[in-house]
Amino acid sequence: MKKLLFCLGLWLAYSPFAIPQQTAPEGPAADTSSLLTGVAWYPEQWPESRWETDLSLMEAAHIHLVRIGEFAWSRIEPQEGSYDLDWMDRAIALAAKHHIVTVIGTPTDAPPAWMTQRYPDILRVNLNGQRDEHGNRRQFSYTSPRYLAFCRKVVEQLGRRFGHNPNVIGWQIGNEFSFDSYDSYTKKLFQQWLRDKYKTLSALNQHWTTAYWSQTYTAWEQIPLEDTRGNPGLLLDHRRFVSDVWLHFENNQIDVLRAQITPWQFITTNIGGLAWSDRWDHYTIAHPLDLASWDDYVGQGQVDPYKDGAMHDLIRGLKQKNFWVMEAQPGFVNWAPINNALDRGEVRRMAWAAVGHGADAICYWQWRSALNGQEQYHGALLGADGTPNPLYTEIQQIGEEFHRLGPELYGTTPQSEVAILHDYDSRWAIDFEPHTARYDQLQVLLDFYRPLRDQAQSVDIVPPDADLDRYKLVVAPSLNVIPDKLGQHLLRYVQHGGRLVLGPRSGMKDAFNALDVHRQPGPLVAPLGGRVEQYYALEGPVPVSGTWGTATADIWAEALSTRDPQTRVLMRYGKSNGWLDGQPAAITRQLGQGSITYLGTLLDASAMNAAVRWMLHGSGVHPVFGPLPHGVEVCRRTRPGHTIFILINENQTPVTVPLPHPMKDLLHAGPSSARVVLPVHGVAVLESNP
Ligand code: GAL
Repeated sequence: MKKLLFCLGLWLAYSPFAIPQQTAPEGPAADTSSLLTGVAWYPEQWPESRWETDLSLMEAAHIHLVRIGEFAWSRIEPQEGSYDLDWMDRAIALAAKHHIVTVIGTPTDAPPAWMTQRYPDILRVNLNGQRDEHGNRRQFSYTSPRYLAFCRKVVEQLGRRFGHNPNVIGWQIGNEFSFDSYDSYTKKLFQQWLRDKYKTLSALNQHWTTAYWSQTYTAWEQIPLEDTRGNPGLLLDHRRFVSDVWLHFENNQIDVLRAQITPWQFITTNIGGLAWSDRWDHYTIAHPLDLASWDDYVGQGQVDPYKDGAMHDLIRGLKQKNFWVMEAQPGFVNWAPINNALDRGEVRRMAWAAVGHGADAICYWQWRSALNGQEQYHGALLGADGTPNPLYTEIQQIGEEFHRLGPELYGTTPQSEVAILHDYDSRWAIDFEPHTARYDQLQVLLDFYRPLRDQAQSVDIVPPDADLDRYKLVVAPSLNVIPDKLGQHLLRYVQHGGRLVLGPRSGMKDAFNALDVHRQPGPLVAPLGGRVEQYYALEGPVPVSGTWGTATADIWAEALSTRDPQTRVLMRYGKSNGWLDGQPAAITRQLGQGSITYLGTLLDASAMNAAVRWMLHGSGVHPVFGPLPHGVEVCRRTRPGHTIFILINENQTPVTVPLPHPMKDLLHAGPSSARVVLPVHGVAVLESNP
C-alpha cells in the first residue's frame, strides 16, 4: 500500500502528461508505477464472457494498461444518433478490477458502413480522383464538414461518459493520421488557405515565381491541388496545408474533449509511419497534445538500435519531454515483405531501450488477433485459441520489471548537451527535388546521429525554432529551408556562444521554397564568411582530406569558398570531377565564443567519427557515461539528485562492461559492482547515486 501511495504521488508530481493539478474532486485510479506496459485490446471483437479471462491473463503479465475503442465506431454508434457505451463502461470497470487502467482511442479512423452508405460525400478522393469505398479503414475525407460533425458527436458522447472515470487515464485521437484527400471541397479549402496566407495573388505569384511556365494566376480558383508534380512553392504550401487540416481534424475532437474531461486525463494521438513519416508536420500536430506517442514497428529484419533510438529521440523532441510507445511490435508484423520475428529477448531489449530514450509506457499491438479481418497473421500475445503465444512470457518479464523499477525511474528524463535539428519544410523541399536518388534523408540524419550518439551518448532531436541555448552543440544535417527569421534564431544561438554545424544542402531555400539569392547557407552566408559555390550529385566516392583525416565523401558534394579571412578550411576535396578538385568541403568560423561550421558533403564513417570528435571537443561536450565496449548502448535518465543508466547489449555475444564507479543493477538484486556482464540482448538498469 505504501508503495502504491508513493507511486501515485510520483505520478501526480512528475507525470509527463499531468496537467498542473487543479483541485479535482477525483483522481486517477492508476495503481501503477511510472512505467507501464499495455496492450491494444478490442473487447468488441469478443463475447463479453471472455473478457474476464483476457484481463486475468493481462494482470498475470503485469499489464496495467489497455487501449480500447479505436476502430469500434460501428459498435459505439450502431445506428445514426444511437450510441451504445455500456459495453465500454463494463470493459473499463472489469479492467480496473484487474488493476488495469484504460486509454480510450476515439473511433474516428473507421467510420461505420451506415455512414459511408448514407453520406458518400464523407469519403476521401485520392490523387487520381477516385473516391474510396467502404471495407477498409481511413476512408474518410479529413476536411468533410459532415464527417467532422459526426466525429464531434461521437467524441462528445465518449467524453461525457468517461471524462471523469477514474480508470480512464487518457485519450488517443483517431489512429495514425494517414491519408489526405483531393476532393473538390478540399481544393476550395486549399485555395482559401492560400488566400489567407498571401492576401493578394500578386504576392503569391511573386513568391512562387509563377512567371515560369506561364503559371501566373489571375483568380484563386485557378490554383490546383497538387502533391507530386508542381511548383515547389505550391508543393511546400500544400504540405503545410495538410498539416493544418490534420491539426484542425485533431482539434475538432480535442476541443470537445477538453470541455468534458478532467484535467488529469491526457490527450495524445499515436504517430505512425515508423515516426519518420512526413505527410504532415509532426510538430504542428503535437502542439495541442499533452503527450507525444508513436507506433514503433521494426517490420522486416532485426531492430536497428540507432534508427530506433533516433526515432524515439525525434518523438521525445515533439513535446521535449517523455513520451509513450503506443504500439510496439509483439514479435512480428503482417505487412513487411518477410514478416520474420524479432529474436527471443529482442522485444525486451527494445522495451528497455525505449525507456532509456524517454518512453514511460509501452503498449503492444495487439492482445489477441481478431479471428477474421485484415490482420490475421500479425503477432499478438494470445493465439486464436485464447491462450498465450510464446512471446507472452517475455512481455510478462517486461511487465514485472517495469512494475518493479517504475518508482526508480519516475520523473526521470534524458538530458542532452547536443541537439540535431530536424525540420519538415526542409525534408519536403529536398524530397520534392532530390536531385539524386541517392540522397536518403533518414540515412543522412543517421550518418550524423550515429557518431554523435556513440560519443556524446545522449542526443536530442528538436525543431530548429526550439530554444537552443541549453545545447553546447547543435548540428543540422540538411537544413534546406532557412527563412530569415530562422537564420536570425540560429545566429543568436552562435552569438550566445553556441556551436552550430550545418550539413550539406543547408540554407538553399527561403520560406516559400524559392532559391535564396545569397546561395547557401542563405542568411548565414555572411556570418559564416563563406558559401556554397556549386553543388554536385555524385555517382561514387571522391577523395577528401584535412583536419578530420584522409577519407572519402559520397552522394553529395558542395564546393565551398571562404570570403572572410577568419573563415578556416577544414577539409578539401581531392582529385575528382575537376570542379571539386582542391575546393573546400568543410569550413568554419569562430564568432566570439561560438562558431559556425559548414560541412558540404557526406563523409565516410571514420571521417564522420573524427568530425564529431572535433565538434564535441570544441564544444566541451563529454560522454554522459564514459568508455563502453563496442555494441553496448547507454542511456541516462535523471531527476534532481537521481541518475539511472540503462545499458543494452546489442552484440550477438555476451559482454562485460566496466563501470566508471561501482553501481547497483536494479534489475538483479545484489551489491554494487564495478562491472556488469550483459548476456546477448542483455540489459542492466544501474543506479548511479553517489
Ligand atoms: C499500426 C496500426 C494498427 C495496426 C498495426 C499493425 O500502424 O495503428 O491498427 O494496424 O499497424 O502493425
